[in-house]
Amino acid sequence: MTSRFVRPFFLTAALVASLAAPAASRAAGIPPLMLGSAWYPEQWPETRWDADLALMQQGGFKMVRIGEFAWSSLEPSEGKFDLDWMERAISAAAAHGIVTIIGTPTDAPPAWLTSKYPETLRVAEGGQRMEHGMRRQFSYSSAKYRELCRLMVEQLAKRFGHNPNVIAWQIDNEYTEDSFDDESRGLWHRWLEAKYGSLGQLNQQWMTAYWSQTYSAWDQIPMNTGRNNPGLLLDYKRFVTDEWRGFQKNQLDVLRRYVEPRQLITTNLGGLGWANRFNRRVIAGDLDIIGWDPYVGQGHFDYQRIGATHDLVRGWRRQNFWVLEMQPGFVDWAGVSNSLNKGETRAMMWNAVGHGADCVSFWQWRAGLNGQEQYHGVLVGADGQPVPMYDEIAQAGAEFAKVGAAIAGTSPEAQVAILHDYDSRWSIDFHKQTNRWDNVDVLMSYYRPLHDLAQSVDIVDPTFSLDRYKLVVAPGLIVMSPELAKHLTDYVEQGGHLVLGPRSGMMNEFNALNPERQPGPLVAALGGRVEQFYALLEDAPVAGKWGNGSATIWAERLSTKTADAEVVMRYGKSNGWLDGEPAAITRKIGRGTITYAGALFDARLTRAMTASLLEASGVAPAPLAVPEGVEVCRRIGGGRTVFIVLNFSNADQAIALPRAMRDLLAGGETSRVVLPRYGVAVLSENGGAQ
Ligand code: GAL
Repeated sequence: MTSRFVRPFFLTAALVASLAAPAASRAAGIPPLMLGSAWYPEQWPETRWDADLALMQQGGFKMVRIGEFAWSSLEPSEGKFDLDWMERAISAAAAHGIVTIIGTPTDAPPAWLTSKYPETLRVAEGGQRMEHGMRRQFSYSSAKYRELCRLMVEQLAKRFGHNPNVIAWQIDNEYTEDSFDDESRGLWHRWLEAKYGSLGQLNQQWMTAYWSQTYSAWDQIPMNTGRNNPGLLLDYKRFVTDEWRGFQKNQLDVLRRYVEPRQLITTNLGGLGWANRFNRRVIAGDLDIIGWDPYVGQGHFDYQRIGATHDLVRGWRRQNFWVLEMQPGFVDWAGVSNSLNKGETRAMMWNAVGHGADCVSFWQWRAGLNGQEQYHGVLVGADGQPVPMYDEIAQAGAEFAKVGAAIAGTSPEAQVAILHDYDSRWSIDFHKQTNRWDNVDVLMSYYRPLHDLAQSVDIVDPTFSLDRYKLVVAPGLIVMSPELAKHLTDYVEQGGHLVLGPRSGMMNEFNALNPERQPGPLVAALGGRVEQFYALLEDAPVAGKWGNGSATIWAERLSTKTADAEVVMRYGKSNGWLDGEPAAITRKIGRGTITYAGALFDARLTRAMTASLLEASGVAPAPLAVPEGVEVCRRIGGGRTVFIVLNFSNADQAIALPRAMRDLLAGGETSRVVLPRYGVAVLSENGGAQ
């Protein structure tokens, strides 16, 4: 057996200069904008397949995702494989012009497996071992489970790795649950040993003298996610990341060995995108293309919040991505599984494309007559006939086909980036200090005005190359190693404009307090620091260069330490400690600037701050002027610019274009578009083919 142990990624990862992302160009046979659906042929009589596939073809579906929960049909008993039905399903789809993505079935092990090898079952943090009947009941660490996965995937890869109608492989389905079984625990201890080398080193970095935590043997170290040592908690998240990475690599290696490079390897990450059980950027780095599942659940589509999540996903590989699951109207798991309004789903599809999706696939085609998800939104009802949603998605399917050539090879491009760092999110989540702080809301408070004003925003890992950005905003970048501080300082010295939000640089990479106070290793570059932080119950007034307003949720009293550091904003009278003190400071260094905004500001002031920062950093003004509630997305490539304009407001909106553009949906040239609520226009400049 090859080494079970994957080295901790952060030990080997030098700062990544830029992430190579060549994948999608290899993908022969993949339509430029691909509409797809999850289809489970194993749940239906074969005599029904053709009717389903004909309906898909008629609706513009070009892809099916199959197999991801079909282990008991693919290997009905140990070592007895039946892959013929899958081959027939792939061929039947191809006969309707539909290509296939095969999902490896490892999210749902069969009953013979879990009863013969109960040690493969996951153990919850409370100590309870899972039973059969659900999916995700396996332990991601189990060597036996990984071996059985390998054997299963090998069969599939050998059989379909050269099938011309298979365009991609999806490993597993929405990696989710870690496990607290003894095997995982042993691996955790070995992981720590590999990282720290000695217990003395671990005891020092975690400062285990605190509450008598000092460890004298590796197996004394607990594995739980309660209010444990902050260093332990952060390392546990990194361990979970490495375990999932290893779980994925186990299958990836088999696929790489047997399948043609033309067949892309992906996975579908779930959990509403912002989920942070493990570092998704690391998981994405090993694949050819990343897929994810942007569900809305209860309520309605928030184009900025989900749009930002698309940007986050695109940022993991700096590459277009696939939406592998979208809800056809509604789900079955929300508090209230309400339906999106008529037209909202089509707009949601185009929003995904606008943010860099080259595929939108629905979950699922038709609900199994029995099984756990009978109520979920579908395209075809229990009677096998289309439900009302079918027409809306079919309309988008026809539009995808129409616009595909113009959009092929284009991608969103931004001059502004927001930094997103899992370590920092985890660190703050372990100890929030105020339950009014929500990391995603904080990120969104910067994203919303940036997206409105600049219309294109990247969300990237702080270690990535930042040269391409004029403005970089780092909300809550609390974990700051000396290497990261140097990387950011280099960016600024070379002409970048860096804005740090509150809580920046408080911790080092072991989640221990940085002794310099905030922003830790950036204090010298900033020429100032945080004197004290305050979790706010009442807002504090604040005024200065960016306007007047209030500091809310969190405020830090800042100070300048060098004559060339400038105070940009000051607090007014509030809790006494903040009165008259600096709330934001800035300093020029090299050819750029570093700014520290020590408080969260109200939405109006944040917008004014954003406008000022965009201007000062020379970011190009938004190309299209649109009313509130209208979103503009832009994809650029091959000498073309394609605008996707979406009306999420409640009224009709007229948009005057700065010059005539080709209207790719309606046809012809236009210099004005009128959009009803949820209306979509796709406009092209510089020769977009139609
Ligand atoms: C996803 C999952 C699908 C399906 C769907 C229902 O998280 O990947 O298999 O269960 O949720 O919304």
